[in-house]
Formats: sequence, structure tokens, C-alpha cells
Amino acid sequence: MSTPNAGRAGTFLLGSKLPIHRLGYGAMRVTGAGVWGEPDDRAECLRTLRRVPELGINFIDTADSYGPAVSEPILREALYPYPDGLVIATKGGQVRPGPSEWIPLGRPEYLIQQVKMSLRWLGVEQIALWQLHRIDPKVPRDEQFGAIKVMLDEGLIRFAGLSEVTVEEIEAAQKVFPVASVQNHYSATYRVYEDVLDYCEARGIGFIPWYPLSGGSLTKPDSPLSEIARRHQASPTQIAIAWLLKRSPAMLPIPGTSNRAHLEENVAAADIELSDEEFDVLSELPDARKRV
Ligand SMILES: NC(=O)c1ccc[n+]([C@@H]2O[C@H](COP(=O)([O-])OP(=O)(O)OC[C@H]3O[C@@H](n4cnc5c(N)ncnc54)[C@H](OP(=O)(O)O)[C@@H]3O)[C@@H](O)[C@H]2O)c1
Repeated sequence: MSTPNAGRAGTFLLGSKLPIHRLGYGAMRVTGAGVWGEPDDRAECLRTLRRVPELGINFIDTADSYGPAVSEPILREALYPYPDGLVIATKGGQVRPGPSEWIPLGRPEYLIQQVKMSLRWLGVEQIALWQLHRIDPKVPRDEQFGAIKVMLDEGLIRFAGLSEVTVEEIEAAQKVFPVASVQNHYSATYRVYEDVLDYCEARGIGFIPWYPLSGGSLTKPDSPLSEIARRHQASPTQIAIAWLLKRSPAMLPIPGTSNRAHLEENVAAADIELSDEEFDVLSELPDARKRV
């Protein structure tokens, strides 16, 4: 069998300009428990990260708050000098008082500070895609969008996106800066943002589903995807990714892993072609449209 290659998932033009392979990698898992501190097996995380571009992945998602300040520096340690064409997307706008705690902080001066910290931790002169991790409900949203416009105007970032937003919020942001991507919770078993996905697809905005494997539950043998997986001699994980890729040409899955074997398995999903009938069955899984 040939080496898995994310290029076989096809290409998407971020901001209608920057080409990336649609199957990316999420770098939240190269941290400690509760996305806090250093990972237990740092050497395996470094090996996994170095394998990412070798498998044709040229789109990596991270955030200043993963660790915090662990995922971005370890990416730099593993991959700098970065291969040509590698797009590292990051996020800012959440603070971390401790493990598993996430609190939005959208004050403009903090967002600007954090984009500058991400430049330093990643070792780049410009962030290719910077995403507002959450709109902070305690700060007027136009102030947060205005900070993003400053980052774009000053060339600190090339493209900008949002995370965990509604269509109304995307439209409000679009009045201040062009929205290149939206990163919302979405998978075969969590589909409450269908309207946002359709909106993004119609406008050429990249839709980055976070928790594409439902945080790992879709990788289990008792996953609702198991029967179709058996037919393809594939794993449920691979079917979860194949379903996402077929769902929309704007879909940019970023499955997260800290393990080389899992990474290779995930990238091999780019070679799986679901039939229309299989796609329809998987599109009707019970409770997927219920908000949790
Ligand atoms: N915008 C946001 O608010 C937000 C929130 C959460 C996540 N994200 C982003 O989305 C990315 C993906 O989300 P995620 O990593 O939380 O969840 P995920 O991709 O749905 O699942 C990751 C989990 O699945 C396991 N896994 C991955 N591949 C596997 C395989 N082939 N076989 C068995 N287990 C496998 C991983 O463990 P192993 O490490 O053992 O493989 C990990 O525990 C993150 O890395 C991050 O960049 C964004």
C-alpha cells in the first residue's frame, strides 16, 4: 500500500488565495492532561509532529492557550525551519487558570499581545491564519473584531477567522474584517452547526470542525460508524474523517493526535470513498443535531 498522503483529500483556497490540503492536523494533543503543561511522552509528540508534513499535511491548527505556550513552541521545535507551503493556523482569546479551564478574554490589548506572543513562540514573521478562539461576552464584540482588523492591517496576520460562532456573529464580523475560516464543534455525531457550515460553503469560508472524532469517542470499536468501517476494512476513525471530507468541499478536518500510528491511520482516510448510500446512512445518525 502506498504511503498515506493528505493531498489526496483535495485542496482548499484559504481566503480564496492560500492553498492547503483539506485534511489537516490539530496540535492540541501535544500537551499534558487537561491541555495543560508538557505532554507525558514528549519524544513521541516530536516524532508525530515531524511526521505531519511527510504525510502531505500542510495545514496545522494550534492555539496560544494549548499548554498554554506548549503546543506552539513544540511545533517550532519539531518543524522549524518550516517546510515550504506549511500553513500554521493559531488562535488567541482564551486564558487558562488551570487544567481543563478555559475563560474567554477578548480585550483588544490582550488579543494584540497574544498574537505577538504566537509570532514569537512559532518563530514566524506573520501568522498565516489567526482565529479568535471565543468571542468574549464581557467585551463589546466590535472591539474584538477591531483588534483583528488592526492585526490584518499591520501585517501581523495574513488571514483571520472565528471559532464557535453563529451565522449572525460571522455576518457582524464580516462588516469589520474578511472572515477566512470558522472553527466550530462538528462531527458525524455532533451537527448542530449545519447552518454555519452551509453559510461558509456558499461563501468560500473554510469550515474547520473541532472534535472531528468527537474528542476520541468515534475511534472506539463500538462507534456508530463501525459497521460501515468493516465494509471498507477501515477503522471507525477513518470513516468519521471520510464522512466529513464528503460532507462539504469547504470542510477542513483537523483530527488531533499525539501518536504516529494514529496520525498515519487518520491521513489514510483521504483514500476512502464512501458511497452515496453510506454517506446518507451516516448523515442520519440519531441525536447528532442535539446540542450538548
Ligand atoms: N476551537 C476550539 O474551541 C477547539 C476545541 C477543541 C479542539 N480544537 C482543535 O481541534 C483539534 C481536534 O480536536 P481534538 O484533538 O480535541 O479531538 P478529536 O480530533 O476529535 O479527537 C482526538 C482524540 O482522539 C484520539 N485519536 C486520534 N486519532 C486516533 C486514532 N486513529 N485511533 C485512536 N484514537 C485516536 C486522540 O488520542 P491520541 O493522542 O492517543 O491519538 C485524542 O484523544 C484539536 O487538536 C484542536 O486543534 C479546537
